[in-house]
Amino acid sequence: MNISKRVIIVSNRLPIKVTRKEGVLNYQKSEGGLATALSTIYKQGNNLWIGWAGTDVNDSEEEKIIKDLSIQNLSPVFLSSEEINGFYEGFSNGTLWPLFHYCPTYGEYSQEYWQTYKRVNQKFADIIIETATKDDIIWIHDYQLMLVPSLVRKSIPEANIGFFQHIPFPSYEIFRLLPWRKELLEGLLGADIVGFHTFDDVRHFLSSVNRISGFNNMSNKVRIESRIISADAFPISIDYKKYRALADNAITKRHEQKIRQLINNNQLIISIDRLDYSKGILQRLEAYQIFLQQHPELIGRVTMMQVIVPSRDSVPKYRQLKEEINRLVSEINGQFSIIGWQPIQYFYRSLPIHLLSALYKVADVALVTPMRDGMNLVSKEFVASKLNRKGVLILSEMAGSARELTEAILVNPNDIWDVANKIFLALNMSESDQIDRMTAMQHTVSQFDIETWLQNFMEKLLEVKTQQKTMMTRSINISLRKKISISYFNSTNRIIFLDYDGTLVPFTDNPQQAAPDSDLIDLLSTLAHDTHNRVVLSSGRDYQTLENWFGQLPIDIIAEHGAWYKEHGTKWCSAQNLSDTWKPEIIHIMNQYNRRTPGVSIEEKSYSVAWHFRKVVNGLGELRAAELVNEIKDYVSDRGLQALQGDKVIEIKSSIVNKGSAAKRWIEQGGYDFFMAIGDDYTDEDTFNALPPESITIKVGTNISAARYYLKSHEDVRELLQQMQLCHSNERIT
Ligand code: UDP
Ligand code: G6P
Repeated sequence: MNISKRVIIVSNRLPIKVTRKEGVLNYQKSEGGLATALSTIYKQGNNLWIGWAGTDVNDSEEEKIIKDLSIQNLSPVFLSSEEINGFYEGFSNGTLWPLFHYCPTYGEYSQEYWQTYKRVNQKFADIIIETATKDDIIWIHDYQLMLVPSLVRKSIPEANIGFFQHIPFPSYEIFRLLPWRKELLEGLLGADIVGFHTFDDVRHFLSSVNRISGFNNMSNKVRIESRIISADAFPISIDYKKYRALADNAITKRHEQKIRQLINNNQLIISIDRLDYSKGILQRLEAYQIFLQQHPELIGRVTMMQVIVPSRDSVPKYRQLKEEINRLVSEINGQFSIIGWQPIQYFYRSLPIHLLSALYKVADVALVTPMRDGMNLVSKEFVASKLNRKGVLILSEMAGSARELTEAILVNPNDIWDVANKIFLALNMSESDQIDRMTAMQHTVSQFDIETWLQNFMEKLLEVKTQQKTMMTRSINISLRKKISISYFNSTNRIIFLDYDGTLVPFTDNPQQAAPDSDLIDLLSTLAHDTHNRVVLSSGRDYQTLENWFGQLPIDIIAEHGAWYKEHGTKWCSAQNLSDTWKPEIIHIMNQYNRRTPGVSIEEKSYSVAWHFRKVVNGLGELRAAELVNEIKDYVSDRGLQALQGDKVIEIKSSIVNKGSAAKRWIEQGGYDFFMAIGDDYTDEDTFNALPPESITIKVGTNISAARYYLKSHEDVRELLQQMQLCHSNERIT
């Protein structure tokens, strides 16, 4: 993909790591999916990759490393051994990794680790800030750098920042265990777009944002002030063509022959993982052990090659895992070996890429059974390397790639007995079945390869930036305020529609507590006493309450979303042809939901019934509301009713009345030279749509709206109304 902007990739680790052998510095390819996936992108143009060099170095070595790496578009970050301990081994891999992979009991909660994590994230941010401009795309990767987006945003407010999480995002119930959950979310929300591998990760993230930070989302978008942040799923993939070409390479073919000799033309099962407890290595070995016990006839005829790429072996849990794997491999080999054959060939090292490709090619079965994996690229590399389309993939349901590679044999990695059965099934699968499944998977991987991933992510980032710009121009700032005030001042026949709850007063748990304060009464009174103004309060509340609160003011009122209305000085009228005979049935159904949903209340109005769930625990209210709407949908439509979804409320009312049709009664009277409508709710959209296009329509809050402008809160609404009047009375504006 041709991206016109410079891309700065930032990850904990560079794709090249510095090692030291007998005092001499060496450069090697880094392990893991992240390094593999992004390895082609940073080399283009003047792109840059910022990341840790992979070892602690002394001052004299730093200069040389910077020079050596800069020619490859790489910019190293140097970490002291204390930083490596607290940030990398400690908080990243001792706290976040286990928790995000659903192993909370492995997680260590240490203030010291957290402080170092914060310090190192700041260090990365400082390096970005030194290098980046507001026009670059800053693409930050993975759990080690969750605070960096916000830290960069503080210094470069307009920056284009993408964040991609390569590991799962756990459910709220797990994420909330972290003492620093709020800070981590705030860190991520500094990005414009936050990407994950699967929709489940997106859901979990948004649910945590809602419950911990209090921000709602609409269509996977969170709005904070005038900035929209999008969260979406972008399943990462591989460079499909590269793996095809590798499989056809002469060096790979030579390796292929050697492997065939080594296994003596036995059937071959391969497993390739970084050393990690999330990969389910021990459980898989146990499954293979069961398989051998159940099929003694296959002893001497099947070989398993387990490659483990060394990783994080300075972290205690990893060291312990390594020892347990050694023990189990020895046990199985001891138990089943015969002269000239052993069941497991075990390699604890990183393989050169041609040898890896040859292994993928020769294998009859790839056994990829992580307990939890963000994506798992090994499964996709295996599929891509199968030029003859023969071979079977056994894949854990818990790997992100299982969502795409649905033609694999899917297994639950904890069900080691089933995995044993599936190994047998795979080794005996017919060639035509193998080819059918592999063809389908190759189609998927070739269609959604690394290029598509990159393109989708970048397009979405640029789309969000465009939306943010539009949003900015719609937020009422000082100059827009002035423009509105001038327009107000220069007009003589104005109509102003004002919603009440959430627009003029804040929401309260009990709707009756939201009575107007004296400042608001003064404000509305001044506005309404201006003979050039007609003020219409347009609310969903019952008319008796509105009469009690506002009956003394010279304003007109629309109540119950238009079921009732009153012009000042006249009596309340109800809209025609309304029935209330349906109410008992709906209240009966709602009562059934009340018994299962602590905190809800029913508000009965003359022609509508509202089901309030503001006091219900976050999430449950929304769930029950959706169930309720689903249950009554046929009943409602058969009777010409409508289920309106407002802010923490579902209201059932006649579909022939709404705030928009009610507003038309005023608009049709004509002669106005200034139209204004302000509202925060879904129901106010009807008013906005009923007004002429040049009207000043204002949405309070952050949700997508038909209104032309936005204000943040009821306080801002009051301020604007005050300012309009002030300008008018001072007669200062020209
Ligand atoms: N890999 C490697 N050296 C090896 C074996 C594998 O670099 O000796 C690569 C493999 O090709 C794959 C990556 O390591 O691209 C592992 O990525 P995966 O997503 O499967 O797991 P992760 O390491 O990200 O947890
Ligand atoms: C996974 C993570 C990466 C990490 C890689 C290797 O793929 O998502 O962020 O770089 O493992 O781990 P390491 O600790 O060696 O960098």
